[in-house]
Amino acid sequence: MGKPWKTIILAGGTGSRLYPLTHAVNKHLLPIYDKPMIYYPLGIMMLGGLRDFIIISSPSDLPQLEKLLGDGRKWGIDFTYLPQENPGGIAQCFEIAKNEIKDSNVALILGDNIFYGAGLPERISEAINNGGATIFGYEVADPGAFGVVTMDANDRPIKLEEKPENPKSNLAVPGLYFYDDKVLDIARAQKPSARGELEITDVNKAYLALGKLHVGQLSRGTAWLDGGSHASLYEAGQFIKVVEERTGLKIACPEEIAYRKGFISKEEFKTLIDEGLDTQYQRYLRRIAKEIG
Ligand code: DAU
Repeated sequence: MGKPWKTIILAGGTGSRLYPLTHAVNKHLLPIYDKPMIYYPLGIMMLGGLRDFIIISSPSDLPQLEKLLGDGRKWGIDFTYLPQENPGGIAQCFEIAKNEIKDSNVALILGDNIFYGAGLPERISEAINNGGATIFGYEVADPGAFGVVTMDANDRPIKLEEKPENPKSNLAVPGLYFYDDKVLDIARAQKPSARGELEITDVNKAYLALGKLHVGQLSRGTAWLDGGSHASLYEAGQFIKVVEERTGLKIACPEEIAYRKGFISKEEFKTLIDEGLDTQYQRYLRRIAKEIG
């Protein structure tokens, strides 16, 4: 049996690019069409079979996130909430969660990253079985805005750079990472970058240097969006609206995923629906309960 998996959802930071939207509200609570942003990273990890979550955010924002998500029991999952006193970089999350992740593998997803597409849960299952670290490459038009990975002719990673001025490839690294139980030690060995942050790209570089970095491909049939700027927030909402209206199905609905994945029983799913207000969201869940039978 391998070590258990803990999944960190990083939902802190200043959200300064979204000011004034984020002046009083945490970025990850902002709407992406019909759901709070954080539902989307949560949903994709649940679809990948992960159930043990650590939510990291600023001390002042944690209560609101906790009000939204609760302890997770109603969805058959578990949430632990941990404060990030100052946003000192993505790779700080391992130190913050050190007690929770000792003796565990760690999945990490950035709270403003939205993934949608066939085959993604399978990519996650593969990553879980890889050992070492697994990141992904996704072709984008503007790689310089992201972590960038360069592959050799045999599709092996040779270089990683954080927001390079002259990117060597157009493969961006999305905010979805899988690490073995060595990640805390590896993160502890890193120094802050020029922008004063502990960079997740430096952690990935360390795994690359050890020959333990796997890079999976997210095909162009996958949508990877983020809600980090006004335009991308708006576009992500439009994308979700178009797909949901076309299919009549909701993307990243935790109740539905919990039921479909067998995290909760049919009775628990029905109780969950009956306890809620009579909203469009509840009516959707009622329909799903009838359809799945
Ligand atoms: O979106 C993917 C990109 O995310 C990667 O390609 C980059 O390699 C990675 O560095 C990161 O780049 P950004 O500069 O766009 O990350 P940003 O500072 O916007 O933070 C991403 C999320 O992490 C956001 O939801 C806020 C959260 N965060 C960030 C920092 C720096 C925290 O919770 N705490 C932090 O200290």
